[in-house]
Formats: sequence, C-alpha cells, structure tokens
Amino acid sequence: MIVVTATFFSPSLCALPALAWEGQMIALPHPCLIRRPVLYVFPRVLKRSLGTTRTQVKAEDGLDRSPLQFISNSILKTNSKLARALSCTDDVSTKPTLETSHIPFEVKQKDVNGTDIKTAQKGLIAPYVALSKPRLTALVVLSAICSYALTPYNATIPQLLNLTLGTALCSASANAINQAREPDFDKLMARTVGRPIAYEFAAVAGTVGVTVLCAGVNTTVGLLGAFNIVLYAWMYTSLKRTHIINTWVGALVGAIPPLMGWASSSPLSDPGAWCLAALLYAWQFPHFNALSHGIRQDYKGAGYVMTCFVNPRLNARVGFRYALLMFPICFLLTYYGVTDSVFPLDSGILNGWMAYWSFMFWKQQRLNYAKGKTPTAEGMKLANMYAKKTFWASVWHLPGVLILAMLHKKGRWDWLFGKDGAFES
Ligand SMILES: *[C@@H]1O[C@H](CO)[C@@H](O)[C@H](O)[C@H]1NC(C)=O
Ligand SMILES: *[C@@H]1O[C@H](CO)[C@@H](O)[C@H](O)[C@H]1NC(C)=O
Ligand SMILES: *[C@@H]1O[C@H](CO)[C@@H](O)[C@H](O)[C@H]1NC(C)=O
Repeated sequence: MIVVTATFFSPSLCALPALAWEGQMIALPHPCLIRRPVLYVFPRVLKRSLGTTRTQVKAEDGLDRSPLQFISNSILKTNSKLARALSCTDDVSTKPTLETSHIPFEVKQKDVNGTDIKTAQKGLIAPYVALSKPRLTALVVLSAICSYALTPYNATIPQLLNLTLGTALCSASANAINQAREPDFDKLMARTVGRPIAYEFAAVAGTVGVTVLCAGVNTTVGLLGAFNIVLYAWMYTSLKRTHIINTWVGALVGAIPPLMGWASSSPLSDPGAWCLAALLYAWQFPHFNALSHGIRQDYKGAGYVMTCFVNPRLNARVGFRYALLMFPICFLLTYYGVTDSVFPLDSGILNGWMAYWSFMFWKQQRLNYAKGKTPTAEGMKLANMYAKKTFWASVWHLPGVLILAMLHKKGRWDWLFGKDGAFES
C-alpha cells in the first residue's frame, strides 16, 4: 500500500503554518505587523493564562489601582466617552458585593491579587498550552508531516501518529524551556505556572516525546528530536542575547523537523531529505528578517541582539539572498526525484513573488544605510512597507510551496499520464 494517508491529510493542514508563525509574533510586545483578525483569533487562552494583561494595562492608566472594578451600566453606553473612562471590564457581576445603587455604575470586588477568581480557576491546562507555544509547535509538526508525506518509502498510520505526537512533545518541551529562561517569565506566568514547574513540564514532555519517537518511529528520529531541544532551548535561547548568529542557529532548528519526518521512513543518505531541510532553512531568512525589521525597537528594548538593528543592511541582504536560494532548492527537489519536473516551474511563481519583495526591501535598506548616510523618514517608511510585503509573501509562500511539492510528488500523476507520463522524459 503506497500510503496516501499522510499525503491525504497534510495538504489541508499545511495551510496552518501561516497561522503558526503568527503565534510567535503575538507573544512579542509590539504587534505592529499583525492584522487585527489574527490578533483577535489568537486563543483567549493566552490572555487567561499569561494573565490579566488587561488589568495590568489598566493599572498603568491610573484608572484601576484600587481593589475595585468599575463596570459601566447601560445608561452610560449612550455617552461613549464617559463609558470608556469608567469601563474596565465587560464582565457584569451578578452579585455586586458592595451597595452600588447610589452611584451610576456597578462595582464589584476583585481579589487581592487583582485577578478574577474565575480566571484563576480556568487556568489549569491553559498555561501548559501557552508554555508549549501551540502555533509554533503546529508549524514544526506540519513540516515534519509534509516531509514524511514526500518520502518515496511506505508510510504507515501508527508511525505517522507516533511521529506527530513525539514531535509535538519535543517542540513543547523546547518552547517551555525557552520561555522559562526568559527574564520576564515571572511577570508573564508566575501567577499560574512558576519557573520550576515550567522546567518540570519541559522535562516530562521532552522525555515522553523522545521516548515515543524512539519506540514508535526509530532511534534516528528520537535523537534528532532530542538534539533539536538542546539546540533550541539552550543554544538559540542563549545566543539571542549575545550574538546575531542566533538567526542562523534558529534557522537550523527549523530545518530539523523535515529531517525527522524523512528519517521516519527513509534513510537520511537520500539527498531529497537535505533539500527539504534546506527549503525550511532558507525560508526562515526572508521570513524572520522581514518580521524582525518591523519589531526591531522591541527587540532592542528587550535586550536581544538581532541583525535587524545591529546591521540593517546585512539583515535585508541575507533575506534576499536566501529568498533567491529557493529557486535552486526547488530545482534540486526535482533533480533528486522527490518532485516531478513541473514543480520548479509552479513553485517558481511563489519563489519569485517572495524574492521580488525581499529584493525591494534590500534595495531600500541599501539606500537608507548607504555609507555616511542616516535613513530619512521617507526611506524608512518605504523599507517598513517592503518588509511587511516580504513578511506576508513568506507567510503564504511556505504552505504554498509545500502543498505544491505534495501535489507534484514524483509519481503522483502516474495513474493519469502513465509511468513515463507527459511531464516526464
Ligand atoms: C510498500 O508496500 C508495498 C505493499 O505493502 C510493498 O510491496 C512495497 O515493497 C513497499 N515498498 C517499500 C519501499 O517498502
Ligand atoms: C495572592 O498572592 C499571595 C501572595 O503572593 C498568594 O499567597 C495567594 O495565594 C494569592 N491569591 C490568589 C487568589 O491567587
Ligand atoms: C506507536 O508505535 C507503537 C510501536 O510501533 C505502536 O504499537 C503504537 O500503536 C503507535 N502509536 C500510535 C498512536 O499509533
């Protein structure tokens, strides 16, 4: 049975990586690149578990310092300015604990720490979900599954399930360690999950994940999973604060899941595996460099050492360089027999689209930061615009190329065109 199981499920799932990456962005403080709907859709889980961000923000406004919350009554809704000034929550308390009939708004008591008790009760599982960065984990799992779907060897459902579960747990573990190592972790999570608990969770998830991979898939995949936890949680997380090389290390982290997917059923000596890894590796530069350009001030403020502000020209140049590398990588996938001969052509459209915007971004940054010049406001505006375009192109580029690769998997259309079909030979 040449199993279409994996291939059957993954094309639709592959639309998700786009969302997966936005999860990462939302975790960052300044969501200037995020469109509102995405922000809104992002699980309320995060709001609940990472806490009472809303309460904290209000506290800074100087509106909500007392242990009381003001809730607008419906009369006030007609006077929007006043209502806005008074409303701090839309949660209407059914049992006001104070006598409020003499004032024009309802009042309810907050607990001493400033959280709703309801919120605290709901946050039992949510913090662990947030710790594992669900969207990033989804991207990691999907890139492994897509790669598994592209291997020439037989796939099986138990193996696919084990691969999915094991990869997800490894990624959750790495993300939990990564977050727990952040200096502002306490501010974000302490109320629900303390640092030691985060590490415990990471240890359990990592151990179970690697075990599932070793027992249910094979040792190579298990070792790759363990290696990726170390690479991401220790090396990348440490380098983020010391050297711009962190972007390259982070890209390696993204290149390993496709190797895991491939190694599940096929030997890693096959060059096809490395082409898929290269695809994921290269993609991250136009994607991440454009993204980080938009939030460079926040990175700077948070004490990260990122190419986007250390060397803006290099940042844009590297993004463009790797966007160009997509063309030969897609060609090599066909050359090594993973995909058919049409793939380089139609993936080329997507590659060209991303390369075009990253070229514009690079060109603009070259002008902006030419020797002895400081960027003008006009120039920066253009660069910001091109970075945004590059970012969104990359968000659609990756799922697009992976879906195309699966549609053009070598031999897929043999039933229609015959083994030496019209497209081959
Ligand atoms: C795949 O499965 C089919 C039928 O189960 C078998 O004949 C074939 O040899 C397998 N191929 C590989 C590469 O294991
Ligand atoms: C409030 O904070 C105190 C001390 O930090 C803690 O002991 C208590 O459990 C917290 N209460 C709630 C409801 O979270
Ligand atoms: C994982 O692999 C084991 C061993 O091959 C197998 O028995 C089990 O059914 C697999 N798990 C799932 C969820 O398919």
